[in-house]
Amino acid sequence: MSGSLTRPTSIAPATGKLGILTPGLGAVATTFMAGVESIRRGHTKPIGSLTQMATIRLGKRTEHRSPLIKDFVPLAGLSDIVFGAWDPIGDDAYTAAKKAGVLSSDHLEPLKDFLSAITPMSAAFEARFVTRLLGVNNVKTGPTYRDIAEQLRADMRKFKADNGCDRLVIVWCASTEAFIQPGPQHQTLASFEKALDENDPAIAPSMLYAYAALMEKVPFCNGAPNLTVDLPCMLQLAHDNGVPVSGKDFKTGQTWMKTVIAPGLKARMLGLAGWYSTNILGNRDGEVLDDPASFKTKEESKLSVLHNILQPDVYPELYKDFSHVVRINYYPPRGDNKEGWDNIDIVGWMGYPMQIKVNFLCRDSILAAPIVLDLALFSDFAQRAGMKGIQEWLSFYYKSPMVAPGLQPEHDLFIQQTKLKNTLRFLMGEEQITHLGLEYYT
Ligand SMILES: NC(=O)c1ccc[n+]([C@@H]2O[C@H](COP(=O)([O-])OP(=O)(O)OC[C@H]3O[C@@H](n4cnc5c(N)ncnc54)[C@H](O)[C@@H]3O)[C@@H](O)[C@H]2O)c1
Repeated sequence: MSGSLTRPTSIAPATGKLGILTPGLGAVATTFMAGVESIRRGHTKPIGSLTQMATIRLGKRTEHRSPLIKDFVPLAGLSDIVFGAWDPIGDDAYTAAKKAGVLSSDHLEPLKDFLSAITPMSAAFEARFVTRLLGVNNVKTGPTYRDIAEQLRADMRKFKADNGCDRLVIVWCASTEAFIQPGPQHQTLASFEKALDENDPAIAPSMLYAYAALMEKVPFCNGAPNLTVDLPCMLQLAHDNGVPVSGKDFKTGQTWMKTVIAPGLKARMLGLAGWYSTNILGNRDGEVLDDPASFKTKEESKLSVLHNILQPDVYPELYKDFSHVVRINYYPPRGDNKEGWDNIDIVGWMGYPMQIKVNFLCRDSILAAPIVLDLALFSDFAQRAGMKGIQEWLSFYYKSPMVAPGLQPEHDLFIQQTKLKNTLRFLMGEEQITHLGLEYYT
């Protein structure tokens, strides 16, 4: 069921407008939208975005061919993007961005007209999945979950028509929902649709967006750790309807660091005794994650990374039973400026212990915004190239990459990067790069 990868005979061009819709118009979504507009006006550079700034080497090193990815792959241009959102809080993007407190007024005020015009559509929302949200005033109502999902589908069609869009893509930028396990309701499309009609409590709002998107053949990227599209019924629908999906949970601050440092330790066969990670953050996401049920969803997403990279089953002498603790504390004075501390107890030659300390003063939404852009542009490209189902080559952007049942996700950032670039080379009919140095033999 994983994303199919046969070389396309042709890739549809990125003509016309691309609508990027975000469930959630909070810190990440508004920072993303404001940033793209700022770049379009020439006020800033797309720092952090591979689609806009990265190059890709093609052929042998001696050929000196390293175009920008955006010149190599037919991606939608920034000028062709139109933004839309849903949020249970009715604030427009300017008001929401001001409240989020990520961007300074120097950046926001010149964009006031543009951001004020982005008003959220009413959300599919239930407080039992996000308990710590205040000011909810913009929520859909209907007799059944099926009815709400149909309203979301109508929103998508209306947005597309009103804005003259050729294509849509959806990136989940809404709050992390309370932890749930997949149940029988999520196994097949028939059981899911039955659950929609019966208002089954195992249906979370994010699943309504995912279902509606897939029914409308709109690619769906999941920036939070909720299950959402990571369910057998959704994968079935994605395949049936030819839609690319990816998730889960944007890989930004601390986990991104983990997926950089842990492969380095393993590459040098250095042991790990323990990794203690703690964070303080004061944005709304931090407030939502202060609820143990939402934190559990996040914790599950963060904990699996190290085991997966270090493979304690393959290297028991180095990585068996290391202790891994992750804490997130809501601390309002910091706003969106998260501070993370990592204490890493490593083990070297003859068992001597050493420590690495990382103190990362990061800005969560500043790190997440370019990821939203890249995911949207690459997912739109994937659909035009005929790809469907899970897009494992986009694992680079996620804390808990979705994989086909029975497979382990790849967490190592550098393997993920190679996979991403080799997928682009493959799709565009270029040789994949192995870094094999055959010149030693010639
Ligand atoms: N910023 C990062 O570095 C980062 C990294 C990984 C994941 N994430 C995830 O991205 C998401 C957004 O983060 P943020 O900092 O923008 O949070 P935020 O709280 O500022 O914004 C989330 C928005 O989603 C809205 N919302 C809640 N339920 C909704 C629903 N059912 N439909 C539509 N909107 C809904 C909320 O009203 C809020 O405006 C969170 O789930 C967060 O865990 C963020």
